[in-house]
Amino acid sequence: MFDTLIDRRSVSNEKWSRYPEAVLPAWVADMDFKAPQCVIDALHERVEHGVFGYTGVSQDLLDVACAFIQKHYNWHVNPEWFVFVSGVVPSMNVTCKMLEPSQSVLTTSPIYPHFFKAPKMMNKEVTAVPLVEKEGRWTFDFEALKRAISPTCKLFLLCNPYNPGGTVFTKEELTHLGEIVKTHNLLICSDEIHADLLLDPKARHIPIASLDEDLAHRTITLMAPSKTFNIAGLNCSFAIIPDAALRRRFQASMGGLNGGVNLLGLTAAKAAYEGGEAWLEALRFYLKENLLLVQAFVAKHPRLKLLDQQATFLAWIDCRDLGVNPYELFLSHGVGLSNGKDFLGEGFVRLNFGCPRQTLKEILERMDTALLRTPN
Ligand SMILES: Cc1ncc(COP(=O)(O)O)c(C=O)c1O
Repeated sequence: MFDTLIDRRSVSNEKWSRYPEAVLPAWVADMDFKAPQCVIDALHERVEHGVFGYTGVSQDLLDVACAFIQKHYNWHVNPEWFVFVSGVVPSMNVTCKMLEPSQSVLTTSPIYPHFFKAPKMMNKEVTAVPLVEKEGRWTFDFEALKRAISPTCKLFLLCNPYNPGGTVFTKEELTHLGEIVKTHNLLICSDEIHADLLLDPKARHIPIASLDEDLAHRTITLMAPSKTFNIAGLNCSFAIIPDAALRRRFQASMGGLNGGVNLLGLTAAKAAYEGGEAWLEALRFYLKENLLLVQAFVAKHPRLKLLDQQATFLAWIDCRDLGVNPYELFLSHGVGLSNGKDFLGEGFVRLNFGCPRQTLKEILERMDTALLRTPN
């Protein structure tokens, strides 16, 4: 099913319209796969109904979302804790807007650009502490994080699983981070949008808010069916905020600026959480095989490096030894990757391997040619 080549140029979308036709796009984080059939059927049925009046979040959707979260992350959440928002990025902005003008934000780098754009958008200082390589994967530098916490720091923006790099933080790592956050009395905004795309069989997604009561009460967890079921264009996500006062602050910070989620987004989310499990299982299997191809490609080129990619369909490739701008190099050979510089990762590229294997092979062949033509 994931092998099917689907023409996306015939419909409006960001990924396939950024570059000329000669370029294969492998940048923005959506996949070239059809959503699960149960989602497509539910959307058809809802469209056929024909009346599209104002629509809120149904109890049924809340119930299936809670059941999914309990089953997959062993986290018991209450429907009252949910605030539906059109996207995870808007929720990050809403969270930064909650802070007082003098308060500042801490995060890590390299990172998905909105982690430093959201604080700036809300006129807040942001410090991004680089991750470090440890035992073959990217992880926190706890000492550097502690040193970076200034008296004005009030919020830690966490990305787990991590984009880019694909680290799935362990219970020990999250507990250690949690201790630092508690010592300095910070809030956490935890973006867990990639939680369902774990490719490493040894890894397990742990919502940081599920670790203990204290962390639950200082954390805004952001989740969505968008990456999981490839429905990002339906703009449906939610914040889970167990603490009632924090939830009210978040809602007040939205201040009537978020009109809620479109009814088709709500329809798709319910169908996906209810019936998308088999599709998701098959997707993860397919992505793992794609990752093997990417890893084999990197292994062939000693000037490239890829650490342990535990999650996501986004490979974070270290090209610093090439001595040229890798984004430009690969683009000139017909591959449109994400430029590491945009993530504060100069010399890296991010390759989206959420595509049919035939497309991925073509992408890797073009990259191979680019490297063969680039002298040592
Ligand atoms: C870590 C992370 N957060 C958020 C988003 C975007 O979320 P949304 O489309 O819901 O705003 C992405 C998309 O690539 C992402 O990788």
